[in-house]
Amino acid sequence: MKIGRNDPCWCGSGRKYKTCHEALDERIKKYAAMGHVVPNHSMIKTPAQIEGIREAAKVNVAVLDYVAENIREGMSTQDIDDLVASKTKELGGICAPLGYEGYPKSVCTSLNEVVCHGIPSPKEILKSGDIINVDCTTIVNGFYADSSRMFLIGDVSPEKKRLVQVTKEAMELGLKEVRPWSFLGNMADAVNRHARANGYSVVKEIGGHGVGVDFHEDPWVGYYGSPGTQMLLVPGMMFTIEPMINMGKAAINTNAADGWRVTTKDKSPSAQWEIQVLVTEDGNEVISW
Ligand code: MF3
Ligand code: CO
Ligand code: CO
Repeated sequence: MKIGRNDPCWCGSGRKYKTCHEALDERIKKYAAMGHVVPNHSMIKTPAQIEGIREAAKVNVAVLDYVAENIREGMSTQDIDDLVASKTKELGGICAPLGYEGYPKSVCTSLNEVVCHGIPSPKEILKSGDIINVDCTTIVNGFYADSSRMFLIGDVSPEKKRLVQVTKEAMELGLKEVRPWSFLGNMADAVNRHARANGYSVVKEIGGHGVGVDFHEDPWVGYYGSPGTQMLLVPGMMFTIEPMINMGKAAINTNAADGWRVTTKDKSPSAQWEIQVLVTEDGNEVISW
């Protein structure tokens, strides 16, 4: 796979390789030679892909805004599914979860001790004091946007409010570590430290992921690790930061009956925020939230 300096760049810009991605590739090679884990070309979005993903993100954000306006006590999680399905369709998008590896609904709704992948149900009614994560993934013209938010229902206890707030802060502290020539380990460590400093634990088995051209791409994005380790970050990489933080212990269970719903083993509440982020030339840009 040798590309000449005067050949068109692999990114499809139409420019010569030597004036496009050659310098980036050379810099990545130096990190690889030092023993770092580095991304390959499939993990670096082209400008055309980024533009397509932005369109998906517009719909993704609008759908979550619509949920924010309408979510309330007394509603079922199936009602949330209906809101997401109808709004996504109205805006010209497709709900990626529906039919994904057999997933039966259009959105994930994860209530209280549910860590992630809660399946909406007409029997599950939101009540005062609940905290819930609504996780939407939207496809527009084949491009993907994936983000999630927490919602507080009615009067929520200070303890649960703090969990939701600290989880958001942890995600934001992780985001601050996203810049070119840093490492995923820097982001992971920032998230984990903030959770632990507040007496919480971070789910280990489930993480974020590359996203944009497909739903779940490489790299896998965890929240355990040290600065200077794990994958090198380079401009054009796009992935989610979506830590799941538990008030109690980190251990989780997956529901055997539905094969999806993940809960905390100790039944303690869990919170999650998810953003989709692009590594830019000088830092990062949040693509969807
Ligand atoms: N949106 C989830 C994520 O953030 C994935 C859900 S998979 C599904 O990666 F099938 F449950 F929708
Ligand atoms: Co998601
Ligand atoms: Co995701």
